[in-house]
Amino acid sequence: KAKLQTQTLGQEIIYKNEVTSTQEEAHEAARKGAAEGTIIVADRQLKGKGRLGRKWESPPGSGLWFSLILRPPIPPQEAPQLTLLTAVAVTEAVTEATGLQPQIKWPNDILLNGKKVAGILTEMQSDPDRIQAVIVGIGININQMEFPEELSDIATSLKQESEGTTYSRADFIAILLSRYEYWYHHYLKHGFLDVKKRWEALTFTIGKKIKATTVTKTLIGTAVGITDDGVLLLKKEDGEIEHIYSADISL
Ligand code: ATP
Ligand code: BTN
Repeated sequence: KAKLQTQTLGQEIIYKNEVTSTQEEAHEAARKGAAEGTIIVADRQLKGKGRLGRKWESPPGSGLWFSLILRPPIPPQEAPQLTLLTAVAVTEAVTEATGLQPQIKWPNDILLNGKKVAGILTEMQSDPDRIQAVIVGIGININQMEFPEELSDIATSLKQESEGTTYSRADFIAILLSRYEYWYHHYLKHGFLDVKKRWEALTFTIGKKIKATTVTKTLIGTAVGITDDGVLLLKKEDGEIEHIYSADISL
C-alpha cells in the first residue's frame, strides 16, 4: 500500500531507530552534499526540536518524525514561503489519509479540534544571497493515545481524532510526499500566489481577533492577511497595520 509515487522527494530515505533530532542529522547530511529530496526519518527523537527553542515530544512507535532536505533556487528571504507550503501539504495529506479536516494556525501549527496534531520547523543553510539547503522538519502525531500531562490539553493525534483508528506511518509519509511534491513543483514553476491562496483557505487565523506575543511585546488586533513573504498582518484597534514575523498567536 505504501507506494511512493514521487519523482524526487523521498527518493533517498535514511531511517534511524533513534536520533537526537532528525534536524541535526539532516543539517549534517546537507552539508555533506545530500541531494534535494533526501529524507531522514527516526522512530524516536531524544531531543526533538520545536519552534522558538522549545522541545518536541517524540516518543517511539507512534509518530512520524522526519526532516526533508530541499535545495530551492530562490533567494533566502523567500524561504519562509516554504513553511506555509509545508503547512498546506501536511493539511492536505491529513485529509487524504483520514478524511479529517485540520486547520492551520499561523504560521505553521496544524490543528484538529483546536489541538495540535503536527508541527513544522523550517531551517536554512545559506550564504547572504544564495540558499545552500532548506531543512524542513515535520512532526506528526499519528497513533498516540495519550500525551504527557503538560500536552494533554493542547496536543492530539490522528488516532485520537478518529475513534481509535490506527494509521500506517509508511502510508502517511507516501501520501504526504506526493502532496508536497505537487505543491513544491507548482511553487517553483508558478510562484507563491496559489500556495498563499490555498493556505488562506485552510487557515482560521485570518479575519479573527488575535493576541500576538512576540519576543518584545504583546499586540492585540485583527489578523487581516499575510504578505507575499508569509508575514502576518495585524490591524490594531487604532487602524495601524503591524507586520508580525514571529510570534505566538492566541484567540
Ligand atoms: P518554556 O516554558 O520553556 O517556554 P513551553 O512550556 O512553552 O516552554 P516546551 O515545554 O518547551 O514549551 O514545549 C512544549 C510545547 O511544544 C507545547 O506548547 C506544544 O505546543 C509543543 N509540543 C511539543 N511536542 C508536541 C507534540 N508531540 N505534539 C503537539 N505539540 C507538541
Ligand atoms: C513546532 O511546532 O514547534 C515544530 C515542531 C517540529 C518537529 C519536527 S519532528 C522532526 C523534526 N526534527 C526535530 O527535531 N523537529 C522536527
